[in-house]
Amino acid sequence: MSISTTKNISLTNKEQPSSYADRLGSAYSNTVSQTFKKDNGQFFTPQAIAQFMGSLASIDKKQIDILDPGCGTAILTCALVENLVEQNPNIGVINLVAYEIDANLISLAEKSLSYLKEWLFERGISFKYIICIHDFIIEHYSCLNPPSLNFSGTKQNFDFIISNPPYFKLSKDDSRVKAAQVIIDGQPNVYSIFLAIATRMLKDDGEMIFIIPRSFTSGRYFNSFRNYFFNHVQIDFIHLFGSRKDTFLRDNVLQETLILKAKPKNGKKIESEIIVSTCSGLHDIKQSKQNIYSQKDLIDLDSKEKIIHLPTNTKEEAIIKLFKNWNGSLNQYNIQISTGPIVAFRAEKFIRETPEEETTSLYWIHNITKMEINYPFKKNNKGQYVLICEQTKPYLIPNRNYIFLRRFSAKDDKSRLIAAPYFLLPEASHYIGVENKLNYIYRPKGHLSRTEVMGIAAILNSKLFDTYFRTFNGNVNVSAAEMKAMPMPPLETIKEIGKKLILLNNFSMENVSKVTDDFFELNRL
Ligand SMILES: C[S@@+](CC[C@H](N)C(=O)[O-])C[C@H]1O[C@@H](n2cnc3c(N)ncnc32)[C@H](O)[C@@H]1O
Repeated sequence: MSISTTKNISLTNKEQPSSYADRLGSAYSNTVSQTFKKDNGQFFTPQAIAQFMGSLASIDKKQIDILDPGCGTAILTCALVENLVEQNPNIGVINLVAYEIDANLISLAEKSLSYLKEWLFERGISFKYIICIHDFIIEHYSCLNPPSLNFSGTKQNFDFIISNPPYFKLSKDDSRVKAAQVIIDGQPNVYSIFLAIATRMLKDDGEMIFIIPRSFTSGRYFNSFRNYFFNHVQIDFIHLFGSRKDTFLRDNVLQETLILKAKPKNGKKIESEIIVSTCSGLHDIKQSKQNIYSQKDLIDLDSKEKIIHLPTNTKEEAIIKLFKNWNGSLNQYNIQISTGPIVAFRAEKFIRETPEEETTSLYWIHNITKMEINYPFKKNNKGQYVLICEQTKPYLIPNRNYIFLRRFSAKDDKSRLIAAPYFLLPEASHYIGVENKLNYIYRPKGHLSRTEVMGIAAILNSKLFDTYFRTFNGNVNVSAAEMKAMPMPPLETIKEIGKKLILLNNFSMENVSKVTDDFFELNRL
């Protein structure tokens, strides 16, 4: 189908505006390539999700102002308006400002919004809309800065900001990144800038409803963003999808997304509650289950990182509590975690396929599986040896006891944390090499004992730690900073677990899970 044929998609009798917007979106989506969609963050919200998002809003005002940034065919506005009109018979006037950067979509947004206007007219409601064909960030970034510096009195305020913003990483040189420096640490994702701007465009009693990736809930790249976000708004509601595959199935997107609703804090520090709602996918979204948590159990607003923990059931809730009760950390036990210093492409000329007199072992991510190091293990051109010489010595580490931890898991790996114990062999070289996609855990100016190494590797690989990790980390990265901040059980417990495994002489994951579950009485949670 070509773009011009999408213009002929006609209305079916009495269909809902959101259904029409959905059909327009699907038709348009068939005219553009997957690469175009990825580059422009253009994945349209399925009607069931749009309806769910719309149903989160409630208001008793007669006039309502809505903003829909990155509107596509305006399905979210349509679903929001349908829900508001159903709930509130007093609405007389609705105003919308929509932004869309893709000029080819404007005529479709125009079609769905003019149909919405008719639909509202039949219900006695006046509807005015403007579709701005501009970059939403470039138009509004100035509101990110403190009002005293930059903000003019022309601020537009909205009762609702509803959005499924674009998701993609922006390069450092992108003008939008320069414009939004105040919320950026390292490599930003465009959606976080949409969210941050939205926090500044709400009326005091307004609400923002967004569907976004989970990645902002943790990780250092989102630190400044989280700090900014929680300075201005508080989250009331979060919806989680059990299955990544089901959410944007039509567009083949494997992205872990969540829906959030937030409202301005207006300078107040409020002890509030957060509803966490869950469903497995699109098919059961209407039957979502809800739990209410105290905000402080999910986000420590006094912490520097402001990581968001999201339990989806009572077991995960109990696990978050268990971790909160631990006061230990790697740092407190004088244990460090660092990233492997050897960046393969820079060290290429020193890496060897076969051992030579002056080489030592080089460990890569593929050498590490749960509780086991498979070495040497030839894979593609990942040489298993590295030369020891003056140029490489600053990048090699002393041959001691370590725990190696993968820095990334594959999207479909059953577990996010994959760690293996490494024990120094007396006859081995003084140095070893660790490639950059691995973290290594060690005791600076000292040694990790065998029981410590075995205990730490076992707990990191355990179901308990994996479950806890997943409650705050929605992506596949395992950052050293996050591991440093992670609460740890008392060192004595870690050593006892290590000792027990060594005595049993059984390091299978089955046994590791059994031993750790028994220690933390997990079966009782
Ligand atoms: C994830 S899609 C969602 C579309 C629609 N809101 C929906 O829910 O189906 C994001 C939309 O934002 C548009 N977009 C991307 N960057 C933008 C920008 N900087 N300003 C305005 N719109 C943008 C894309 O063209 C795309 O239509």
